[in-house]
Amino acid sequence: MLEKPLAEFTSVNEAYFRARWAELLRLLHPGEDLVLLKIASGDADMIPQAMARTHPKGLYITANMNKALNDSLSRKTESLALKMNIIEDDAVRIADYTGKGTVDVIAFQHAVNDVIQSILCDKAGIDTVHAEWMELLPRMIELVKQESSRNTLAAQVKEPFLELMRALLGTLRSGGYVAMNHYLFQLDLDWGYPPDVFEHMIPMTREWLRELKGCREITLDGFDSQWWIFLQKIESEPSY
Ligand SMILES: C[S@@+](CC[C@H](N)C(=O)[O-])C[C@H]1O[C@@H](n2cnc3c(N)ncnc32)[C@H](O)[C@@H]1O
Repeated sequence: MLEKPLAEFTSVNEAYFRARWAELLRLLHPGEDLVLLKIASGDADMIPQAMARTHPKGLYITANMNKALNDSLSRKTESLALKMNIIEDDAVRIADYTGKGTVDVIAFQHAVNDVIQSILCDKAGIDTVHAEWMELLPRMIELVKQESSRNTLAAQVKEPFLELMRALLGTLRSGGYVAMNHYLFQLDLDWGYPPDVFEHMIPMTREWLRELKGCREITLDGFDSQWWIFLQKIESEPSY
């Protein structure tokens, strides 16, 4: 499922991702009281849909900057029996909203690319908060393409990405997890996303994450490390 580019979102894809996250969340947090922080959710609701079944007493928090996508996420999840907190801000400012060490799992569902694109837009002075995300996508892809062809993507993005990760680790409890995944979407490739970057998003991120202190990578059976990364926090205090 993750190896071939998805041509479109179908109910099968949707069910697949809900089932994967349900399986993962049960594994990472067997207790009922899961506090999950999702980064850059857009209006994707597969994790709240899964949590409403696996952890109905839990709390789903998302840090998601784009206004229109937040409105859409609120509408899609309004009937779910799950506590939700949508933070309309850059996740790098998460400490303004959540206490230290209060989150059990931080999730990036196909979101590393979104974070990278937002960092590049920010540097280029492009507003991603009030814009229609899909209308901006061609410009975002152009920025990724430019940096990739100049071999400067890591130089532009790695440090802001690690700054975000340090802030996120601060909210994570000791022993808690970060879970990231990626898959290929045909539209991004058709619109010129550099295939080597898009296909190796997780290995590229893994290289950057090696510099992050206070956590270690773990592997889980059945979750391919080309498409998934899991980190576990090993210190009670983040190492800023
Ligand atoms: C296309 S949507 C995300 C879709 C979702 N990741 C998925 O594929 O299921 C992109 C979202 O990422 C958000 N985003 C990107 N970087 C962010 C950051 N640093 N903090 C909060 N939200 C961010 C944008 O605001 C936007 O709402």
